[in-house]
Amino acid sequence: MTREMAWMGFLATMLIVVVMGFNLLRESDKQEQAALELRIEAVKTGMDTYAENCVICHGAAGEGLGATPPLAGIALEADELYKTIDRGRYNTVMAAYGVDEGGILAPAEIDDLVTMIEVVNWGAVAVRVEELGLTPPEMVVVELTEETLVSVRALPDGAVLADGLTVYATECAACHGANGEGTTLAPALNTADLRSTMSDDEIIRLITNGVPGTLMAGWSNALTNEQIAAVTTLVRRWEDLDSAGIDLPVIEAEPIDMSPETLAHGAWLFSLTCTQCHGTDGYGTRMAPALNSQQFLADTPDAAIQQIIALGVSGTRMPAWGGRLSEYDIAALTAYLRSWEPTAPAIADVNAP
Ligand code: HEC
Ligand code: HEC
Ligand code: HEC
Repeated sequence: MTREMAWMGFLATMLIVVVMGFNLLRESDKQEQAALELRIEAVKTGMDTYAENCVICHGAAGEGLGATPPLAGIALEADELYKTIDRGRYNTVMAAYGVDEGGILAPAEIDDLVTMIEVVNWGAVAVRVEELGLTPPEMVVVELTEETLVSVRALPDGAVLADGLTVYATECAACHGANGEGTTLAPALNTADLRSTMSDDEIIRLITNGVPGTLMAGWSNALTNEQIAAVTTLVRRWEDLDSAGIDLPVIEAEPIDMSPETLAHGAWLFSLTCTQCHGTDGYGTRMAPALNSQQFLADTPDAAIQQIIALGVSGTRMPAWGGRLSEYDIAALTAYLRSWEPTAPAIADVNAP
């Protein structure tokens, strides 16, 4: 073999390696491209599934509403995410969504949700949710004026009290009443009785862990220890607010009415928050019974319907909506359900899809 031949052979080999290498690179580029496109599709599908099933609790931008934890920035591994969505969380309102667990989502749909939660820009989710008209209604929140906060801060240890009141007004007032006086949903927190029977530690523990099987959720996910301590100080010192004459605006209760506007509002809320389980027009699904039935409507007075919607049915998938929907919202839903009565089937279609 001459040197030239050896040289040529070497060049040829190099050429093959280089060309092959490029081809290999191209091939993996193509695969990567295809994988990327699949991921984008998964994220898109996941966003829509999220909008239809999860926003009402986890928020349009995954920020977490009330005591529901945020999903934006969540640190769970993919398999843990999958398991949580598939099987739910025992003894909480986080239901099992997997079809094998009696839920409504196929494994592929849960896979897409997991991919989406892991990589999505949550701002884009909020935009998509808005596009679909599924942005959840605002929580009932008591507005605190700067004037009120200034008077509270002027009390001894006022900074902590003001923090406690801010947490209370946004997270607790909807159920416990604007001035801690209690509502049909939850007991009063401003009583001497409560102050004398519960220690600070007991109150802190109760707020942190909640009371399973009731509307009182655990707030350890949603509030910091400082915030829980501050709201506990508020409960402990409610008397001081009272004697300083600090009164928060009372949340208006709306009477149930059957006006077209109320029915339209009820219909909108129903399609937003109830059809996923109770089916289109309330005919029922595998997740929940039919509400559009003579049997149910004739046997259940308005007050009972309102109570069920507000408090949920503990130990079942029926969530408590009291903290998330206003009394007006709940009355509008009740009016909407009632409007079906004249045309409702005599017996609920228990075998609805
Ligand atoms: C009725 C309210 C509600 C709905 C609807 C809901 N969740 Fe949840 N979710 C919760 C609550 C409450 C928790 C916290 C449970 C606990 O304390 O462990 C939770 C927990 C989770 C967690 C674990 C969070 C963590 O930090 O550990 C994931 C993931 C999750 N939900 C995903 C979803 C997805 C996806 C959907 C829609 C298919 C959904 N959830 C629908 C209320 C809800
Ligand atoms: C969705 C409605 C709801 C929200 C929101 C809510 N609670 Fe409650 N809370 C309840 C219910 C219902 C009970 C009664 C539980 C029971 O039956 O033991 C309760 C009980 C309590 C108790 C014990 C009262 C007693 O006499 O035993 C405290 C303290 C309390 N809540 C504080 C808070 C604080 C602080 C917040 C806000 C961070 C809050 N709750 C938000 C519904 C709610
Ligand atoms: C995550 C699924 C789910 C969602 C969302 C849901 N429900 Fe339910 N609901 C159920 C289940 C399950 C039951 C049956 C509970 C039982 O076994 O008693 C139920 C029961 C009810 C009942 C009592 C029915 C009866 O026959 O006693 C009413 C009323 C009701 N839901 C209204 C609503 C309204 C209004 C909404 C929307 C704001 C809603 N539900 C959203 C799952 C759901």
